Amino acid sequence: MRQDRLAWLVAATFAAALSGCGGNDTPASTAAPTDPAAAAEAASDAAATARASALLAQMTQAEKIQMVHGTGEGVGPVGGAGYIPGISRLGIPDYTIADSATGVYQTRLVGSSITSVTTGATSLPSPVALAASWDVDLAKTYGTLIATELRVRGFDVGLGGGVDLAREPRNGRTFEYMGEDPILAGNMIVARTQGTQSQNVVATIKHFAANDQETNRMSSNSVIDERTLRELSLLPFEIGVREGKPGNVMCAYNLVNGLKSCQNKTLLTDILKTEWGFKGTVQSDWFVAINDTALAANAGVDEEEAGSTDDSVGFLGVKTFFNQKLAAAIQAGTVPQSRLDDMVQRKLHTMAYVGLLDAPPSSTSGTIDQAAGDAVARTVAQQSMVLLRNNVARGDTAHVLPLAASSVKSILVVGGHADFGVLSGGGSALVPSRDANAVPCLKPTATVGGVTACATYYDSSPLAAIQAAAPGATVTYLDGTNATAAAAAAATADVTIVFGTQWETEGSDLTNLSLPNATTDAANQAYDQDALITAVAESAKRTVVVLETGTAVTMPWLGNVDAVLEAWYPGMQGGPAIADVLFGAVNPSGKLPLSFPLTETDLPQQAISATNKQVVYAEGLNMGYRWYDSQSIDPLFPFGFGLSYTSFSYSNATSSIDSSGNLTVNFTLTNTGSVAGTEVAEVYAELPAVANEPPQRLIGFKKVTLAPGAKSSVSVTVGAGRLAIWDVAAHSWRLPDGGYVIKVGGSSRDLNAVTTTQTITGRLLASYD
Ligand code: BGC
Repeated sequence: MRQDRLAWLVAATFAAALSGCGGNDTPASTAAPTDPAAAAEAASDAAATARASALLAQMTQAEKIQMVHGTGEGVGPVGGAGYIPGISRLGIPDYTIADSATGVYQTRLVGSSITSVTTGATSLPSPVALAASWDVDLAKTYGTLIATELRVRGFDVGLGGGVDLAREPRNGRTFEYMGEDPILAGNMIVARTQGTQSQNVVATIKHFAANDQETNRMSSNSVIDERTLRELSLLPFEIGVREGKPGNVMCAYNLVNGLKSCQNKTLLTDILKTEWGFKGTVQSDWFVAINDTALAANAGVDEEEAGSTDDSVGFLGVKTFFNQKLAAAIQAGTVPQSRLDDMVQRKLHTMAYVGLLDAPPSSTSGTIDQAAGDAVARTVAQQSMVLLRNNVARGDTAHVLPLAASSVKSILVVGGHADFGVLSGGGSALVPSRDANAVPCLKPTATVGGVTACATYYDSSPLAAIQAAAPGATVTYLDGTNATAAAAAAATADVTIVFGTQWETEGSDLTNLSLPNATTDAANQAYDQDALITAVAESAKRTVVVLETGTAVTMPWLGNVDAVLEAWYPGMQGGPAIADVLFGAVNPSGKLPLSFPLTETDLPQQAISATNKQVVYAEGLNMGYRWYDSQSIDPLFPFGFGLSYTSFSYSNATSSIDSSGNLTVNFTLTNTGSVAGTEVAEVYAELPAVANEPPQRLIGFKKVTLAPGAKSSVSVTVGAGRLAIWDVAAHSWRLPDGGYVIKVGGSSRDLNAVTTTQTITGRLLASYD
């Protein structure tokens, strides 16, 4: 149920304006495509433009207005986040919009409440988990699967593509995003978008821009210098738009440099549309992202959501601006007719481009193929888990993991509702459980930021999966509420597996990065998780901690446990996938998409202020791992880190640059261990000192599977933009002049990384590519 959120939305206030954000005077590249794929793309783009223009020419003014605003949430034939009725006389289908961050989230308006519909849709592991797989093919599969299920339920637009960077790990939506690095997040969102749109479903990427915390999310002002904005916050969007060609970009609730994101012409028109060549629709975030018809329309918004059928009434008390008010503004000349025509043209172009005009969903209440969904969910979960620690316990000769099903005789499982299932994040990224009653919330009436703070657990029991994987072992479960009893039981078990959970939701930020306790998450947490793990680790023969978290957590007990597996919010097949990794049916290969700090005092932003709405990005370019590197701080676990049950070595790094400026890095990767495994090989660049950059940046990566003892020659090619900096004087990307060190290794802090160097003659780039 999300009825409470409207109250909190309406109560939002807006901060005062500061100066406008940086402009741009770099023309978009107009070079004709030379390769066949680009030529085919240009042809289908041109065909979509022509088709959209022909339809637009036949539309009445009322029909045009109808196309640029939603009619509320939970309404229309299938409900969902938004609905724009089609125009049947012109063959334009309904525009039916659903949230889909981790799967289809169908809602209905019942009275004045927005209620969840149980659809049987698949919940995949959350996007931060997907990012931890570093697997672009899997990201495509992820987008494809969700789009398939959207269509089965009658939706043709998915709002799933969150790509704001994890600047502030306490951000309650970190689980919905793709980590702290723009190249990782950008590459993943491109693939996800392509997967979604391959199914004739319009993809959205969001929230544009710098929407990096939930506290005061409708009124906070992200104060960012132009270079940081371009090189970090905007970059995943730039890559996503240029390469993924999403139909929608959702502008955010927050302000950027004093202007509401959805009324910021520099962001929406000058950068997104003009410079990056975005041909789709700018869609407002859902309730109070705009507060002025002409400002929003002239800034570049093309669709107001959730909108209403009557601007004089609004939707459930929330004011709206793009229905009668837009018609009046055009009449009065404060919004030009050409702007309305452009809004419609953009939407029709997208509908034609993704094939929606010809193939709208044919059912509205079809049956989800749950077996197909479960198969993808399990694969994504297996590929996304990150093994953070795997020691040899005292008296043993082998690492604690993988557990040997044939020899382990007794297993104690403790806490985290592991007897029932696995945790998911809350808010619009939720997929309701397939079992409508499956919500082990302790205190459903507690609220966080206006949202009912009750975590959803999916009925996918790790306990049952562990028992199934070790049929010969005695497996016992304790719920964790009694640390003394758990410690006593741990003393006699061969291995103790403790589950730690951290619930996040849209609408609020985390108090801190400790595993929550009964104070910091009163609705869902009955005991002190850190104290439990500490107590168990003191007496257990072998302690394995499995984490279900949406972001980083601190681990005061790390030195006393033998193994730690980060499972994130692992989706509806999380239980079996956790067992697959614990018992070695799957060799873990995930790598962290965000740094885990040792303590919160190591973060650049010491606290999220509840009262100061000026969120100053004082760390500038030193976001995420760039911060720890620049300050010489050792994180608990660095960006890009993750262990395997085998080991890899890197050698023979060489590099070359072709006539277009593309950099190719070649190296040899060897599986030096005794089992098959998959390695995410990460390529970083140290820019010349004249660039004045943080010590290193990720520029590319490749995931490689190798048999034990096998070697592979790997090559990673990246465009020149990956080495560029934003030149604030020229308002353009620039390759700095000088020597670059290219490093290839298994994490951002791999001591065995190998290097190669390149000397580049500096120049401005026509565009980021
Ligand atoms: C969220 C969006 C979401 C929309 C529709 C907003 O509050 O910020 O991410 O897509 O609601 O549910």
